[in-house]
Amino acid sequence: MTPSPDSFTAWLAGLHKWHGWLQLSAERAYMHAEEEYNSHYGIAAVEMREGEGFCRLLQTHQVDTSGPALEIGCGTGYLSYGLARHYPGPDLLITDPSPTFLRLTQGLFGPDFAGTTRRHYAVFNADDIALLPAGMFSVIGLRSTLHHILKVEDFIAACARALRPGGALFMGSEPCATGFLLMAAVAQSIPHALKAAGIEMRPEWSYKLNDFTSTVQFCCNRDIDKTYGEDKHFFDPSELGRLGEAHGLKLEFLPTGSFQDFAPPYSYAFHCFSSFFLMYMQFCMRFDDAFMEQIRQHLRPQLKYIDDCYRSHAGPAVSSIFLLKKPRIGTG
Ligand SMILES: C[S@@+](CC[C@H](N)C(=O)[O-])C[C@H]1O[C@@H](n2cnc3c(N)ncnc32)[C@H](O)[C@@H]1O
Repeated sequence: MTPSPDSFTAWLAGLHKWHGWLQLSAERAYMHAEEEYNSHYGIAAVEMREGEGFCRLLQTHQVDTSGPALEIGCGTGYLSYGLARHYPGPDLLITDPSPTFLRLTQGLFGPDFAGTTRRHYAVFNADDIALLPAGMFSVIGLRSTLHHILKVEDFIAACARALRPGGALFMGSEPCATGFLLMAAVAQSIPHALKAAGIEMRPEWSYKLNDFTSTVQFCCNRDIDKTYGEDKHFFDPSELGRLGEAHGLKLEFLPTGSFQDFAPPYSYAFHCFSSFFLMYMQFCMRFDDAFMEQIRQHLRPQLKYIDDCYRSHAGPAVSSIFLLKKPRIGTG
């Protein structure tokens, strides 16, 4: 049975409040400095299109938006801002385990903000997702957060339970294993390519390179305890499809897509493998300018080879969107 609109309000009213936040979980700081997150990734403080694209996808996929939405892992509000502006339902619960991230996101909304959905904020760790009441949410949204969650199957099962029929779990900018493995294979060839060009790897470059390739291996591996790693998993669409199906959710996979691709002017954030690879090494792995320059010059043939394989279609899938929809009652 779908809960009445009042039940969300009643549930919120019963939650513990501490330090000004609704408290669903224990607070946990992010592994990297939260205040520096935007400058690290080179992103603007206010981003509208990501949340707008998310809401347009809800519309085109005919997701029920009559109930509350939940955002998990809001960070600095990259998805939250446009979501709060465009979500047509009555309530949006914005969450993160880090109170600093919650504060940064809450700070984006000035008095003139035009969204109509009511915003609520909670400290929430997705490892506690079983605490959510059954059938409470129409929409659960994440961006670049699923790969931080320890037990992915438990998470998907609990989301399926917390969603209303006709609702959906939308997850964007999640890393795909094969695309990242390809990036790591290309990265491993960097020292050989530089050596062939007579350039010696600096110790700090070797350190950074190893940081990337060992993170890829950690995220691909399935036989180690990932409790203490910040980035934990890479995904395989067919596997997530099977997981969803086991819990009554139907997968739609949008390879190389970003939520913002679905907002005007409808341009693709993903251009080609080489630009994604170079962007990732520069902003996510923080390779220094001198190292990036050498990579641009001496890895050109390897990067061009991959781009040429995808000269008329986007790929390979490195970062993608996973939509898991809960069928309406009677539609199977
Ligand atoms: C890579 S950041 C993405 C932030 C934001 N969604 C964005 O797209 O910019 C990952 C976010 O997931 C949050 N996070 C990490 N582990 C989590 C968990 N177990 N449950 C919920 N959120 C988590 C982090 O605090 C951080 O805000």
